[in-house]
Amino acid sequence: MGKIRFFSGEVIPLEMHKATIVQRLNLRPVHERLAAIKAAGFNTFLLQNRDVFLDMLTDSGVNAMSDRQQAAMLMADDSYAGSETFTRLDKTCTEIFGTTYFLPAHQGRACEHILAKAFVKEGSVVPTNYHFTTTMAHITLQRGSMLEIPIGEALNTECTHPFKGNMDIGRLEKAVEELGAASIAFVRMEAGTNLIGGQPFSLQNITEVARICRQHGILLVLDASLLADNLHFIKVREEQCRDLTIRQITRRICDLTDVIYFSARKLGCARGGGICTSREDVYLQLREFIPLYEGFLTYGGMSVREMEAIAVGLEETMDEDMISQSPQFIAHMAKELDQRGIPVVKPAGGLGCHLNARAFVDHIPSHEYPAGALAAALYIASGIRGMERGTMSEQRDESGRENPADLELLRLALPRRVFTLSQVKYVVDRITWLYENRKLIGGLTFVDEPKTLRFFFGRLEAASDWPEKLAARFKADLGDL
Ligand code: F0G
Repeated sequence: MGKIRFFSGEVIPLEMHKATIVQRLNLRPVHERLAAIKAAGFNTFLLQNRDVFLDMLTDSGVNAMSDRQQAAMLMADDSYAGSETFTRLDKTCTEIFGTTYFLPAHQGRACEHILAKAFVKEGSVVPTNYHFTTTMAHITLQRGSMLEIPIGEALNTECTHPFKGNMDIGRLEKAVEELGAASIAFVRMEAGTNLIGGQPFSLQNITEVARICRQHGILLVLDASLLADNLHFIKVREEQCRDLTIRQITRRICDLTDVIYFSARKLGCARGGGICTSREDVYLQLREFIPLYEGFLTYGGMSVREMEAIAVGLEETMDEDMISQSPQFIAHMAKELDQRGIPVVKPAGGLGCHLNARAFVDHIPSHEYPAGALAAALYIASGIRGMERGTMSEQRDESGRENPADLELLRLALPRRVFTLSQVKYVVDRITWLYENRKLIGGLTFVDEPKTLRFFFGRLEAASDWPEKLAARFKADLGDL
């Protein structure tokens, strides 16, 4: 992918796979979409899939599986102890990550729960290139805190720095000096930094982070959930890695870290998770919690069929064609939107294309959730389901005050190998219509607001009758569909 030139000169991504199993889609007329988003409390998490045309909510657990993954699922060994399936996955992790021990857990946040239980105490700090929602929730639950120290460019959506997921090395050194190594539970590097638009870190940056961690005896933990995208970007954007294979880059990264954990709903294109380490002391500390919270050490809450699929999926992640598909589709979509003057996060990252809601609907204040409102408006205009990644995804502070997010993004995920280029064209077309009519979009307010991770099941209402007006304009311009 990407190496094939079109005779016409057109530059578009070309799929290096074909669809062999498909799922029918429904596109509801606009008045039904309006009713559906109202019934969902203007929260796209609460929409029924039957009412969604293109599901761009997430890349989690919804990536297309390969024929080889499906075949492997039929060969799973359900033995409680000594399972062949566990042995196969354990061996694959050792081959790919170079680690000695593998602890299974049912998904990424389960790994985070166990790491927080084992290492985070009251008052401990976790420096990170950027937080992820579930990571932060588990660390604060243990009465620890996260210290975000991304490079200065990270939050500038216009800046095209190729590695906006890098950690600021000066700030890490300063944090270690001021806090003292003993108060630092671990340093966490997130591959393909999710909340700032799927932005990668460079091999050079994680090498420097590791040097400081080693110097002070601090654990370095890698969240590898979005490693596939990060590997692609290192390969194409980092000069000194151009001649390395994906497998070699993976090993270089992993050799620098003490613990690697991942959501296999993303990495490995199946459903599950796991923690890998070569340190026996760390393994023994974490192992205690697996049978308690997850399941026996041979499955950790996962179905063995999924474990077989993960083993094959991890292997397939070492294929450059495979891991470049989603980033190239995202780059194409971001370029098309940018050319129309629509604000997107630059440079295009992994996971999805991110609309900069703060600029798109700059008339909506943070406390009326611009990214959430844009997500609801896009659904009305297209049947596309995106995800709010802004103030709604944050938690209020202890006094109940709203905590405006650094960025207000509408994430349109491109699950791996799922959508076609004509579907991406439809997305671009409907966003263009919405951008022209953006002044019709209004804010949202909570009517039912859960305390933790409120964005998952909180319910909101529109601050005015803007959804009706938007639907009416759509019908006048484009008809029912
Ligand atoms: N770390 C990162 C970087 C993630 O993106 C996610 C999940 C997790 C950890 C937690 O993994 O879902 O298997 O428990 N991200 C999903 C998303 C939910 O849609 O971005 P999980």
